[in-house]
Amino acid sequence: MKDEKDTERIVEGFAEPEERVRENALRPKLLSDYIGQESVKEKLQILIDAAKKRKEAPEHLLFYGPPGLGKTTLAHIIANELGVNIKATAGPVIEKAGDLAAIITNLEENDILFIDEIHRLNHSVEEIMYPALEDGVLDIVIGKGPSAKTFRINLPKFTLIGATTRAGMISAPLRERFGAVYRLDFYDTESLAVILKRSADILGVKADKEGIYEIARRSRGTPRVANRLLKRVRDFAQVKANGVIDINTAKAALAMLEIDGIGLDNMDRKVITTIIDKFKGGPVGIETIAVAVSEEADTIEDVYEPFLIQMGFIQRTPSGRKVTAKAYEHFGYKKPENGELF
Ligand code: ADE
Repeated sequence: MKDEKDTERIVEGFAEPEERVRENALRPKLLSDYIGQESVKEKLQILIDAAKKRKEAPEHLLFYGPPGLGKTTLAHIIANELGVNIKATAGPVIEKAGDLAAIITNLEENDILFIDEIHRLNHSVEEIMYPALEDGVLDIVIGKGPSAKTFRINLPKFTLIGATTRAGMISAPLRERFGAVYRLDFYDTESLAVILKRSADILGVKADKEGIYEIARRSRGTPRVANRLLKRVRDFAQVKANGVIDINTAKAALAMLEIDGIGLDNMDRKVITTIIDKFKGGPVGIETIAVAVSEEADTIEDVYEPFLIQMGFIQRTPSGRKVTAKAYEHFGYKKPENGELF
C-alpha cells in the first residue's frame, strides 16, 4: 500500500498533509473556477442546484481516480456552493468506532463529512457507518460480553463524500450506499495549461504561453504535479534567469529535475527499461519487477504504473506486465523482431 508519508518524488501524485495545506491557496472555491473534468462538473452542478432547491443535503457521493486530480478540491467546492460546513478526514485516521462517533456527532444539519482514502477504513468503523449513512443513527456498543450495552444516537442529516484511488478496494456494502459515483480522469495538456496560468497568476509569477505549455506537457495529466513543477520552475527562473517562466527556463529547470519531455522521471524509466532489458519486454509479474527495481510491488502498482499504463507504455495481461511498442520507441530501443508487441 502506498503510504502518503514517504514521498519526495516531484512527479508523485500523492501528497503529504503539509503539501495539502499549501495547496489550499491554489484550490478553486467555485465549480465555475474548476477547470476540466467537464462531465463530472456538469453532473455536480445539477446535483448542487437540486439540493439547493429542495433545501436538502445531497446523497452520499464517491469520487475515485488517481491521486492529485482534484477529489478533495471538488468536495470543498460542493460544501462551499451549498453553504455548509465540511469536516475533512481520512480513512486511516479513523481508527476506532469511537473516533467516527466523535466526528459524526459533532456535525451540524446538512454538513459534509469528507473521508479521503475511504478504502482504508477499518472494518469495525465501516460497520457502524452503514446505519449512519442509511438511517441517520449511530449504534454505539459500550462494554464487552453479556454486560455490553448498545446506545442509539440520532444523527443530524449529513452527506458523506468519499474519495479513493482504489475503487475496487471499497467493499460492496459501502459502495452501495453512495447515491452517485464520479470518476476523475487525467487532464489534457490544454486544461493543465489553463490551471497553470491560473496558479501562476495567484502566485504572482510571470509566465508566457510556451513556458506554461512546456510545464503542462510534463505534468502527467495531474494538476498537483503541474502546480508543484510550476513552483520549482519559478524558483529556477528567479535564481538563474530574470524571474519570468519562458520556454528556455522551463526546459532548463525541468531538465535539472530530470523530468523528460512527457513527464517521466528516473524511476519510471527504470521500471520500463528493466522490463525490456531483464525480461525481454515481459510479460513479467509485478513482484518480480519490484525486486528488480528495489521498490515495493504496491508502490509500483499505485504510484508508477497508472501513468505508464495511461501513456500506453505498459499493459496488464493475465500473465504479467508487458511493455508496448510505444515504450520501445520512446526509450530508444529497437523493437524485437519476433515479439508480439501491442
Ligand atoms: N487546481 C488544481 N486543480 C484544479 C482544477 N481542476 N481547476 C482549477 N484549479 C485547479
